[in-house]
Amino acid sequence: MTHSRITKTVFQISARKKSKTAMLVTSIGLLLGVSLLPGKVSADESDLTYIEEFGKRLFFENISDPKRQSCASCHHPGAGGTNGVSGVNLKQVAVTGANPHTVGALKPPTNKYVQFITEDGEVQGLPNFNNTCGRFPTGICGGAFWNGRAKGDSTLDMNLFMDDHYAELYSKYRGPVTDQAHASPFINPVEQGHKNKVAVCQQIAKTKWGAELYDYTWGLKLSCNEKTIDEVFARFAVSLGAWQMSYENNPYDSKRDLALKSDKDGKFPLDSFTDEENLGHDLFYGVAENRDDLGFGQGRCGFCHRSGNRSGTSEHERYTDDSYHNIGTPRNYEIPGSPEADDGLHATTLGTDMENPLHMGSHKTPTLRNTDLRLGKGFTKAYGHNGYFKSLKSIVHFYNTAIAKDRCEDLGIMEATEKEALANNCWPTPEHEDTSALGFIGDLKLTDKDEDAIVAYLMTLSDTSIVKQPKPYKSQKYDESRLSRD
Ligand code: HEC
Ligand code: HEC
Repeated sequence: MTHSRITKTVFQISARKKSKTAMLVTSIGLLLGVSLLPGKVSADESDLTYIEEFGKRLFFENISDPKRQSCASCHHPGAGGTNGVSGVNLKQVAVTGANPHTVGALKPPTNKYVQFITEDGEVQGLPNFNNTCGRFPTGICGGAFWNGRAKGDSTLDMNLFMDDHYAELYSKYRGPVTDQAHASPFINPVEQGHKNKVAVCQQIAKTKWGAELYDYTWGLKLSCNEKTIDEVFARFAVSLGAWQMSYENNPYDSKRDLALKSDKDGKFPLDSFTDEENLGHDLFYGVAENRDDLGFGQGRCGFCHRSGNRSGTSEHERYTDDSYHNIGTPRNYEIPGSPEADDGLHATTLGTDMENPLHMGSHKTPTLRNTDLRLGKGFTKAYGHNGYFKSLKSIVHFYNTAIAKDRCEDLGIMEATEKEALANNCWPTPEHEDTSALGFIGDLKLTDKDEDAIVAYLMTLSDTSIVKQPKPYKSQKYDESRLSRD
């Protein structure tokens, strides 16, 4: 796909600056109930640090062989950081690589709100892969990808690629998001499909911005020499990490964020939410009043989709516990080649001292920020690691009824798609039944209106500002103040 699809732009968002004027602008914005962003709303990349701008351009450029795919193809800002082609989400889910004969087997998760840097320069979000967080039932947290295999340590080993000066500036960007980029989509044959790292580097060197921004960011001439290519490639990965962790990619300016900030008592029910949205929030966190008809925890969403406090008011709530669960997602037979059910976390812990049969079929809890954000009204998004679900209503209905309804197979309906399951009032057997959380979820006794309320709440989690692809690059003078924000 091309970037001309990036059309539904609200405005170019700019980097956060800690100036008094910026704060004033924000408060005026909140008073007016609109999203005026901190810092000036600029028409170009000049508010970004060099490393952020370099990472952003790496993200949006079609760095692929053939030259037709960028990170943004599969992580489209207007689709909330997931795939930007509706027809693909509806059917094959897995995105065809730059080479049209290749395709992966999973839905691109969002690249937003994975990790981010706060105003005070603190790294928050997804931790490195670890088994010390004690989350039930897998005991594992962190790591990027649906199965966590980008653990956050690959660039830590690369002590060669930054001298002390840059290490001080950029060490904070090393972690799972940078590891993911280091993994790397650029040379993955089912993604951007370049032959090797040298070929990636050569394409970057040919752009208008590549050599100059690399130099400004890293204080080095860009060289695609075989001998030093691993170091150069690691610097690309850290730069991609830096932009993905930036305020621009994680603006925290959804209706929920703005409503919470402008609320009189800063608590739910929120003054500027509808009754339905407030009810959805209450069911999500299990605090709706007078609902003896519902069991413990009501919608139970907050058990897994929560990084902050239990009342849902944390400023940087990411709607994920960063842990792994098997919600009983059915197999998606529409993915090309009908790949076997994905093993999830088990594939990552297999053969390590963390190996555990319970990990089979567990996937990382995705953030719910931007889960509804789409490129226009008729645009279909796919939900779950294999994109089996095609609407928020349907996945919420699944949580509500997965074990309350007949199994489609028992009705003689094999390999049912979501559409067939809904039409026949059944749900298929999960991909990995033995380890699924069905029982805890799957018979919540929510009414149809309750389901709608939860969906209405999820719809308040879409960012109001949407990143545009960068402006064409113009050569510029070096400006030391753009090395970092401090
Ligand atoms: C052809 C589609 C495609 C392209 C191109 C692509 N991705 Fe992805 N991305 C995916 C898929 C699919 C996954 C999940 C794979 C898995 O879990 O095994 C993913 C996972 C990720 C994640 C992990 C998110 C999380 O929460 O774990 C990040 C971050 C990410 N991609 C960033 C990038 C960047 C940066 C680029 C460009 C260098 C890129 N992607 C290019 C499809 C793509
Ligand atoms: C037991 C933990 C758990 C509970 C409870 C839970 N979720 Fe999830 N949720 C997950 C996991 C894990 C996934 C990914 C599942 C997969 O890929 O198969 C997911 C996926 C989703 C998705 C798809 C997101 C995407 O980007 O693909 C949505 C939407 C969602 N959940 C909403 C909810 C809502 C609403 C509730 C409450 C009604 C809820 N979840 C309850 C763990 C949970």
